[in-house]
Amino acid sequence: MKLIRSYPIIGAIVAQILAGMLVFVALLGLASLLDASGLFWTAVVLQSLIAAVVTKLLGLPVWWIWIGLGFPAAMVLALNVGGLPAWPFGVGFVVLYLFFSNTARDRVPLYLSNRATTEALLSLMRQRGAKRFIDLGSGLGGVVRALDGEGRQATGVETAPMVWLMSTSLSKLQRRGRIARQDIWKADIGREDVVYAFLSPEPMPALFEKATREMKPGSLLVSNSFAVPGVEPSEIWELSDRRKTRLYLYEMAGPALAENAATHPG
Ligand SMILES: C[S@@+](CC[C@H](N)C(=O)[O-])C[C@H]1O[C@@H](n2cnc3c(N)ncnc32)[C@H](O)[C@@H]1O
Repeated sequence: MKLIRSYPIIGAIVAQILAGMLVFVALLGLASLLDASGLFWTAVVLQSLIAAVVTKLLGLPVWWIWIGLGFPAAMVLALNVGGLPAWPFGVGFVVLYLFFSNTARDRVPLYLSNRATTEALLSLMRQRGAKRFIDLGSGLGGVVRALDGEGRQATGVETAPMVWLMSTSLSKLQRRGRIARQDIWKADIGREDVVYAFLSPEPMPALFEKATREMKPGSLLVSNSFAVPGVEPSEIWELSDRRKTRLYLYEMAGPALAENAATHPG
């Protein structure tokens, strides 16, 4: 179950395989009652429903249930659209890989901080007189480029190949900030004044652990939208943008206090 929670795609595959086996058994019983076309469509409907139920039983998030439900119909559609060459599927796969190869593992998709958030971060840096900023999972690097300059040094780390290539090229062209092709978990955050993350609920406990281990006293971890479960933020900034963005600010205490906060959350 831990494997499935870490890699939901494995759960989705298990659901389809289990559903396929059950459908096979059901079809043996129905073979004398239905013609070939009836059997085919019964199989598609049963496969979708059973896969969705198994996905739910495996405890995967709700969007995986919809994926389980829609996958058999999508396969039928893909295989029956007459005359479609195979290469668009290959190209689609490569493009998805280049943009989202890390999403299956890290469960952090690509979406970008908006202008209100970037401005709030800039004002936070100015208020604190902060000089060093890092964006963990920097996406297209917009935040990094906006915060670099005026004596501040902003960097980002990003692992999705195409996203990194685009962001590092933009940074070089505009001579603002630096984007490293590096994993969040390997990034050195010990010298940063502000560490920013806009990730997902999944990595927040581990991220906080890394922050308490590595960040210097008085520095700030800022998480866009996702709070660290069981840890009281030092401040919450609610922005007045349309989505009412919340920035959770966690001020780092010295190593001893930080250890306490991690062991006795809240
Ligand atoms: C939600 S986006 C945020 C982008 C950017 N920080 C912003 O606020 O506009 C998260 C980014 O983290 C990247 N990412 C996910 N896991 C990562 C990892 N382990 N190491 C580095 N980057 C990662 C994704 O590719 C994605 O670009």
